[in-house]
Amino acid sequence: MPGQALPGFREFYPEETALRSHIFKVWRDVAARYGFDEYDGPPLEPLELYTAKSGEEIVDQLYAFHDKAGRAVALRPEMTPTLARMVAARAQALKKPIRWFSIPQLFRYERQQRGRLREHFQLNMDLIGEPGPLADAEIIAAAIDVQRGLGFGPDDVRVRIADRRVVYALLVHAGVADDAMGTTYTVLDKFEREPRKKLHDRLTAAGLESAVADRALAVGAIRDRATLSTALGELAAGPDVGDDLFACMDALDAMGLGEFADIDLSIVRGLAYYTGIVFEVFDAPRSLRAICGGGRYDGLLKALGGVDLPATGFGMGDVVLSELVRARATRDHTGPRLDTFLIAVTAEDVAPVLELGHVMRDAGRSVEFALKAQSMGKQLKLAAARGARRAVIVGPDERAAGAAIVRDLDAGTEERVAFERLKQ
Ligand code: HAM
Repeated sequence: MPGQALPGFREFYPEETALRSHIFKVWRDVAARYGFDEYDGPPLEPLELYTAKSGEEIVDQLYAFHDKAGRAVALRPEMTPTLARMVAARAQALKKPIRWFSIPQLFRYERQQRGRLREHFQLNMDLIGEPGPLADAEIIAAAIDVQRGLGFGPDDVRVRIADRRVVYALLVHAGVADDAMGTTYTVLDKFEREPRKKLHDRLTAAGLESAVADRALAVGAIRDRATLSTALGELAAGPDVGDDLFACMDALDAMGLGEFADIDLSIVRGLAYYTGIVFEVFDAPRSLRAICGGGRYDGLLKALGGVDLPATGFGMGDVVLSELVRARATRDHTGPRLDTFLIAVTAEDVAPVLELGHVMRDAGRSVEFALKAQSMGKQLKLAAARGARRAVIVGPDERAAGAAIVRDLDAGTEERVAFERLKQ
């Protein structure tokens, strides 16, 4: 229907735009505090950028078509492949570790549901060139600090952290064959959303023996360090495969952010390119889809650009965050308030109002005035409707004295103020 936006695409009325701007501001503030530089890439990319490495799930959701020259193209569903290509192309010249962030709008043809649309904005923060667990901790800390910047504490949001190498080693030990690993990851990914029996049935349907399926599900159920240490202690290869994960948790503790973070071995992530520590941020009751997801992808730059550089990062969408911020019903996300509404008492006062208004705007204040001749009562009503902090009333008597009446619209008080002072 031409009278409606497409399903899954949002129209941002000013109130929603103000909320979006508030979230973007917190994103940019945190990125700046972590020393990240902003970049951007093309919204339309060659289709093969995603078919190469992103994995089936995202490829199924592509907005893909042929352009007028017959090229197979896709709207970007994620930023990571673009980033990997851009960094790989200038890898020699860029100083490592590279700390880059971006806020792209992304497009996925998904089944629309709560927290899941067909476009969203996503903060991407990625750290490239550093393989150690402190880099993972740095990235996770930034994701937590965005939550703190929006006013959320550890009772509101949780970060769940795992390591694909750890999950893989434990699944091999549990008896999962390599060719069933992909299915087992997919099943673990659904751990908290589907009943255990159903997960078990899926695993046996994929060819796992019942006892192996039980053991695989026990791996996905690991939620704390002690249980993980015990499980790793049983590995023939030795427990050191867990060292990075433990070092990352220790670093978060040292930063004072440990109370936000849980080990959760059901976090494997849907995208195919992750190789190490992976994590997701959820609202604490886990009533919504993930706020943020990311992890280490050490092979992607090599695959897409031939440069072997380790990398870790995350994507954080604006959709779930907006719901959570709105649910808190504070007003800190509404747009900035109008500073001054200028009122002309007579027709002769209009030109002085225009002059004063423009000087005030040049000085950085937000200023409005009526755009046609109106009674003072109507103008005052308009000032209130616009939420102005104060009305500045310019009439013949005050003007003769080089002044205006300033009415504080919150307190209801009035004073006479010289034009010269108002212009500062
Ligand atoms: P992702 O898990 O596909 O990861 O997306 C990250 C976040 O984007 C999700 O947690 C969610 O908040 C948001 N998101 C994704 N799809 C939608 C949707 N259809 N509607 C609303 N929000 C959505 C990635 O995209 C990786 N490239 C992230 C990354 C960056 N990994 C390393 N660096």
